Amino acid sequence: MKNDEAKKRIDFLRKELEKHNQNYYVHNQPTISDFEYDILMSDLAHLEKLFPEFTDTSSPTQKVGSDRVKGFKQFPHEYQMLSLGNTYSTEELQDFFARTEKLTGIFPEFVCELKFDGTSISLIYENGILTKALTRGDGTIGDDVISNIRTINSIPKKVVANNLPDKFIIRGEVIMTREVFSRLNNEKEANGEQPFANPRNAAAGTLKTLDSSVVASRQLQCFLYFLLGENLPSNNHFENLKTAKLWGFNVSEHIKLCKLQDEIFNFINYWDTARHKLPFDIDGVVLKVNSLSQQQELGFTAKSPRWAIAYKYKAEQARTKLVSISFQVGRTGIITPVANLEPVLLAGTTVKRATLHNAGQIQLLDIRLGDTVVVEKGGEIIPKIVSVDISERSQNSKVFQFIGNCPECGTKLIREESEAGIFCPNPNCPPQIKGKIEHFISRKAMNIDGLGEETVALLYQKGLVKSAADIYKLKKEQLIQLERFADKSAENILAGIEKSKETPFRKVLFALGIRFVGETVAQKLATYFKNIDALIQCKSEDLVNVDEVGEKIAGSVIAFFQNPENITLINELKTSGIQFAENTENQVLYPPLLKDKSIVVTGSFDRPYDRKKLEELVLNYNGKLVKSVSKNTAFIVAGQKPGPDKIEKAQKLNIKVISSNEFLKIIDLL
Ligand code: IVH
Repeated sequence: MKNDEAKKRIDFLRKELEKHNQNYYVHNQPTISDFEYDILMSDLAHLEKLFPEFTDTSSPTQKVGSDRVKGFKQFPHEYQMLSLGNTYSTEELQDFFARTEKLTGIFPEFVCELKFDGTSISLIYENGILTKALTRGDGTIGDDVISNIRTINSIPKKVVANNLPDKFIIRGEVIMTREVFSRLNNEKEANGEQPFANPRNAAAGTLKTLDSSVVASRQLQCFLYFLLGENLPSNNHFENLKTAKLWGFNVSEHIKLCKLQDEIFNFINYWDTARHKLPFDIDGVVLKVNSLSQQQELGFTAKSPRWAIAYKYKAEQARTKLVSISFQVGRTGIITPVANLEPVLLAGTTVKRATLHNAGQIQLLDIRLGDTVVVEKGGEIIPKIVSVDISERSQNSKVFQFIGNCPECGTKLIREESEAGIFCPNPNCPPQIKGKIEHFISRKAMNIDGLGEETVALLYQKGLVKSAADIYKLKKEQLIQLERFADKSAENILAGIEKSKETPFRKVLFALGIRFVGETVAQKLATYFKNIDALIQCKSEDLVNVDEVGEKIAGSVIAFFQNPENITLINELKTSGIQFAENTENQVLYPPLLKDKSIVVTGSFDRPYDRKKLEELVLNYNGKLVKSVSKNTAFIVAGQKPGPDKIEKAQKLNIKVISSNEFLKIIDLL
C-alpha cells in the first residue's frame, strides 16, 4: 500500500472507530458487533505499525473510548482505568504467553477469570466506607455514579475487617442478567420505547440514569475482579480477590489459578460451552499474571496492561439466505421489518426469522432479497442480521425498497422525524386497535382475567369491541353467541371486567397506552397530577417538572390528549366507572403540610430516610416533587453531594436549602 492510500484508510478507520465509540459508550446503542469493532481496531493498529509516520496520540488505538455524560460529578482516577488487549485466536494467545515468558524469564502463573459483559466500575473505599463509584469515563476521569451504585444490594456500602487498608479501590463489572434484561425490554416495547440492544447496553444505560429509583428497579448486579491501592493484603492477585471475597465483595467463584498453558486452554474451552448456562452474558475469559511484582515488571502500553489479555468468544453466527422481508405493525403504528430466512441451525435452535429493527437498519446493511446474510445470536432472544456477504450477491439484485403503505390498512406511511422508524398514522388500523386493546387488558394494566389476545381478536372480528371502552359494554348474551363461550366462561370474563373497575388510576393511566409512558412514568404522573383532568389540562412546562419526564415524554402526553378520539375514550371509560383519580383514602393519615409546595430533593441521604423515602414523604404530605430549581421552588432538601447546579441556582434565586433533619421537622417527624 502506498503512503497516501494508507493515510486515507487510517483516517477513515479512525473516524469510523470514533463514531462507534460514541454509539457504544455514550448512547449505549452500538450499531456494529464487538467482533466487527475489534476487526476495525486491529486493522487500524496494523496500519499504524506499518506506517509509523502517521502515529497520532489521539488515535482510537491510543486511548479508550469515553463514556462520560452530563449530570454526574466527575473525578480523576487515581490509577488509570485501562482497557484490555484482546484476541479471538489461540495463536495470538500463544504469542502473548511467549511475550510474558520472555519478559519475566519464566512462564508466570496466570489467574483465569470470566470476562463479564457489562460496564466497568471503580469503587473507592476510605476507612471502610464506599465514598465514590466512578465509571471508566475516558480512562483518566470518570463520572461518580455512587447514588446509583448504592442501589446494588451486593455492593457493600461499608466494609469491616481486620486487615483493611485505610484506602483501597476495587474494580468490577456491573451487569444485568438475561432474565431482567428481557423483562425490561418487553416493558420498553410495550411502552413504545426503543429496546436496549443487549444486557450490556442495558446495564451501561441504567448506570447512567439520573434517577436512582429507576436504577433500583432494574436489579443490577456487580462482580468485582481487581483490587488496587497501597498495603494490599497480598502480593498476588488471586489472594487479593479471595480476601476481597471475605470482606464481603461479590467475587466470582469461577476463577482459577493456572501454572500450565494446558490448564488455561481447558478453562477457555470449558467456559465456551458452559457460559450458556450462566444467567448472564460473558464474552470471553480474562487471563491475568498472578504476581503483582511480575505485573509491575511487565508494565503497560498506552491503552492496556501487558500482564493481562482477554480471549473473546465469537458470538454464535450462521450464514443463510434472505428469502423475504415482512412487516409488523405495533400498537403505536411503528412498522418493524422482519427478515424471513432459509432455516439455519444457530446455537442449538433453528432460526427462520431475524429482526431488522427499522428502516434505518435496512439502509445501513443495504440488505437485498436473495442476499447471503450472517445471523448472530447475542444477548438478545431474537437473532439479528449483522452483515451481508456482498461477494455472493447476484448481479441483478436491486436495492430493497421499504414499503410506502401500511401492509394492514393501506394508509401511506410516515417517517418519524429524529428516529429511524416509519409508522402508520391511521388510528383505525386493525393491528393498532387490537394492540391497544391487548395492552389495555394486560396484566400490568387493567389485568382483566379471562381476556387474552385470541379473545380480543375474536371480539374485534365480530365487531363487538372496537376500543377499550367497548369492553365495558359487553353483555353475556353477546358472548355466549360466540363459538367457544359457554355460560360459565362468559360469566368469568364479565366478572373479570367488573373487577378491573377497581384498578387504581396509575395503572389506568398506563393502560391508556400513551407512547413512552411506561409503568414508572404513569405512576409518577398519577402521583403528581392526582387526576386525569389535571393531566389533560397541564402544559409541557408542568410535565417536565415531574421526575423522569423529559421533552420527549411531555410531547407524547400532550399529543395524546390533543387527539379528540382519546378524550372520547376517556369519557366513555369514566362513564363505565373506571378510576381516573388517585384514591386519597390512604392519604388521610398524612396532613397536607406541604400542599402547593414544589420541592427539590438532591444528593444522597442515609437510611432510614434515604432519598427514595424522602421523595415519598414529599408526595405523601401533598407536596410536589420537582426535578429542577425555579422561582416557584419552596425549598431544596440537600444531602451528601447535592447537584452543584441546583445549589448554585438556589443561591441565585434566594431559595432555602435545608437538610433532611430540617425537612423532617417541617413535617413533624422530628
Ligand atoms: S480486568 C487492567 N477482569 O473488560 C485490567 N476486566 O475489555 C482491567 N471485564 O474494561 C480489567 N470482566 O470492563 C478485568 N474479569 C475481568 C473482566 C474485565 C470484564 C471488562 C472490563 C474491562 C474490559 C476490557
